[in-house]
Amino acid sequence: MIRDLLAAVHALRERLGDIPTADDRRLQELKTELLGRKAGALTQILAALPELDPALKRQVGGAANALKREFEAAFTERERQLEQAARHASGADLTMPGRARWEGARHLVTQVVDEICEIFRELGFTRAVGPEIEDERYNFYALNFPKDHPALDAQDSFYVGPDLLLRTHTSPVQIRTLEQYRPPIRVVIPGTVYRRDPFDASHSPVFEQIEGLAVDEGISFVDFKATLATFARRFFTSTTRVRFRPSFFPFTEPSAEMDVQCQICGGSGCAACKQTGWMEILGSGMVHPAVLENCGVDSEKYSGYAWGMGPERIAMTRHGIPDIRILFEDDVRFLEQFAGGSADPRTGRP
Ligand code: DAH
Repeated sequence: MIRDLLAAVHALRERLGDIPTADDRRLQELKTELLGRKAGALTQILAALPELDPALKRQVGGAANALKREFEAAFTERERQLEQAARHASGADLTMPGRARWEGARHLVTQVVDEICEIFRELGFTRAVGPEIEDERYNFYALNFPKDHPALDAQDSFYVGPDLLLRTHTSPVQIRTLEQYRPPIRVVIPGTVYRRDPFDASHSPVFEQIEGLAVDEGISFVDFKATLATFARRFFTSTTRVRFRPSFFPFTEPSAEMDVQCQICGGSGCAACKQTGWMEILGSGMVHPAVLENCGVDSEKYSGYAWGMGPERIAMTRHGIPDIRILFEDDVRFLEQFAGGSADPRTGRP
């Protein structure tokens, strides 16, 4: 009996060698195996002691308790080492409670911009960009604005120098594109624009636009209407109706605004469309010959169409968002509704 017990204690001593190289998981296993409260090998030996007569009890008990202290010291040392290594590896205290992870998503307006550009990519348009600080020539004069146009007033635009301003629209990038490339040209130009507008339910002094420009030989008004109607049906629904209303812009002739059937009421009239059944989504027209000539493009040989649209307005139209300010407030409760995509709730597009 005594021999068996001492042999068992002796055999357990060998296990000390396992501890200094154990990883976290193995360390826990060893602890349970050796010192576990019920089935630990050493625990069981110690539990048998009361049965023995005093002399044997002292002998076996002495050896077993000494070994227990050695185990405990070895465990403590290994635990300290592992903790230190973990802290060293991450530079952090891994015993701190965790933090919930935040997953980012593109803003609704960014999603709409990307989706619109993607539809035009399928129609043969590449993507271009231009600077947000422009001079008056690009922002106005080359676009055929008269010198006394109200948009040139510091009341309406943010000037940053005598001749420099934050662009009031993305149309100046039409000029930059026409100066840099020869036709055929088909581009869409997303970007931020600035105007001295109030910040209210339907205005913001900073907003996004997507400009479009197509210039080639033989482009007609039919190409223009067909392209924009195709876009509207791909972006909204395949049966969405569009209409063009005559309008005026200095850089197009003729000019038109395009409306789509109200996406909230389907055209029957509601508060969102002010009972008209229609929502305006873009300004457009055939590129004015003077604009082509200003860029050194022969307006006898080439023609084209252009448009400018507001992705905030389009996002609001699609989702029935009543106030543009919601798009700038970055309230996560609003934004996270679109974290999985800005698909139209009825069609599931895109
Ligand atoms: N630049 C115009 C605006 O900001 C929008 C626009 C209208 C752009 C007609 C165009 C166009 O390219 O042809 O209101």
